[in-house]
Amino acid sequence: MKFYLQWYARLPSTNTFLKERLAVESNLPSGKVIAAREQTQGRGRLDREWVSSTGENLTFSIFLRGSYDRRKLPAASMAAAVAVAELLEAEGLKPSLKWPNDVLVNGGKIAGILLEQAGDATIVGIGLNVLYAPHNVAYKTTTLAASGGIASVDGARDILLERLGVRLATWQEQGFPPIREAWMARGHPIGTPLRAGIGNHPVEGTFAGLDDDGALLLDTDEGRKRVIAGDVGQPPV
Ligand code: BTN
Repeated sequence: MKFYLQWYARLPSTNTFLKERLAVESNLPSGKVIAAREQTQGRGRLDREWVSSTGENLTFSIFLRGSYDRRKLPAASMAAAVAVAELLEAEGLKPSLKWPNDVLVNGGKIAGILLEQAGDATIVGIGLNVLYAPHNVAYKTTTLAASGGIASVDGARDILLERLGVRLATWQEQGFPPIREAWMARGHPIGTPLRAGIGNHPVEGTFAGLDDDGALLLDTDEGRKRVIAGDVGQPPV
């Protein structure tokens, strides 16, 4: 897949910027990538904030045009998570994936993905901590540089775009099965005890894999359950 990259020094959020641009530019090409050296209102999943730092991290969004079935879209963000993992592996690191699409190194979050859809537009926003990681957040964080990988935002971008091109094309051509296989190879081992879901209604069970649409499958005392949104963590012992 071919990308058309455009850099900005500062934007509120590359996802928001792309959405606004789509509203006025109906012929925006699929594969357009908007990147910002600094985001002032970066957004994460579940209405959280995504904190990065000026010029030190990679924050960009990819625009894909196509009438994808909504159910199939989580697979696109998982394809992106796999591409980030492959960049890290190329740097000699051993990343792991946490459902749905967090990328971790040594248990610290290094990258996150925010997928949004508007009409026939899909926006895949990726934030990768290259030189800076926020510490005032509720989870452990890390950076590419601190983990022993490449300490260059532009260098990381080039490798990542190359991997994203391959993985997003695989998703478009072959659907979820090859992405699921690549995700599972780096994800929670089958049988891992997990607690998943949103807010006050978590489901507890053991990891049983990913459903055809990327939903998390958990084996619980009441049988197998699907979780389609939220976060996962370890259940309390
Ligand atoms: C998460 O883990 O919660 C997802 C984080 C996604 C952050 C990226 S940075 C580029 C793009 N623009 C945004 O405002 N968010 C995404």
